[in-house]
Amino acid sequence: MKVTVVGAGAVGAICADNIARKELCTELVLLDIKEGLAEGKAQDMMQTATLLGFDTKITGSTNDYSKTAGSDVVVITSGIPRKPGMTREELIGTNAGIVKTVCENILKHSPNAIIIVISNPMDTMTYLAMQSTGLPKNRIIGMGGTLDSSRFKYQLSQHLGCSPSDLNAVVVGGHGDTTMIPLIRLATWNSVPVTNFLSAEQQEKIVKDTMVGGATLTALIGTSAWYAPGAAGAALVEAIVRDEKKLFTCCVALEGEYGQKDICLGVPVIIGRNGWEKILDFKLNESEQAAFNKSADAVRSMNDVLKTL
Ligand code: LAC
Repeated sequence: MKVTVVGAGAVGAICADNIARKELCTELVLLDIKEGLAEGKAQDMMQTATLLGFDTKITGSTNDYSKTAGSDVVVITSGIPRKPGMTREELIGTNAGIVKTVCENILKHSPNAIIIVISNPMDTMTYLAMQSTGLPKNRIIGMGGTLDSSRFKYQLSQHLGCSPSDLNAVVVGGHGDTTMIPLIRLATWNSVPVTNFLSAEQQEKIVKDTMVGGATLTALIGTSAWYAPGAAGAALVEAIVRDEKKLFTCCVALEGEYGQKDICLGVPVIIGRNGWEKILDFKLNESEQAAFNKSADAVRSMNDVLKTL
């Protein structure tokens, strides 16, 4: 198995680190446009191999895509991150050009790869990856909901005083501060609805804190977060290479599911060796569906910006 992570910034490096520690592949390539950055980080990580006990071979490359040839999975993290006060959407002008070039280069050397998109604005970058590669829809996966659902479980665990691992909870819709939809009605703590244990005020706070999860960290750190985004990317790589058939919320191409088409948006999917293999219908209620439609409208107008670039 061969995996490539494009972008050796904080998110890409943590993603690669998690992939190596879990030995998800034999060969791992880290690529960046900045001279020496990927080589340096790859070497640094390789120097943890005997300490952490992994055998994955990590190599770095400065923009030489021939090194990525034959990758089974490619994770795209390239682009500029958010600064405090910025929305993910403000990154579109810069990141669209970068992601398009990356996709074209990847496709030349790894025509059979499954592509995981992390770059922001993630929903639009996933749509762009679909369009610019022309790959079958199941091989393009936007990571957003996987990260947002993990943040949702963290927020819930803080209020319930429980382990995040005992929770089932998903965020659907867009990966934006105002477009994501934490589905608290369907969230459970060991099969029991979490709403049994939380006041209306607590529920409202959890949903709100989840939605601004990324912005909160950006304000604290001064740039966008990397541990959870990198780990979310690696979790998807794991589900693919191990053919886990695990359920994640991912940004995928909709063709009528959840009442939307010609858009990539976060919905619950099964992830396995073929990429996203199935969309699950969670049967949203009226207000959730209305929120989903509103989210789709916002993402669609962001996608329209691509035409003007
Ligand atoms: C975040 C960025 C990666 O949510 O979108 O932290």
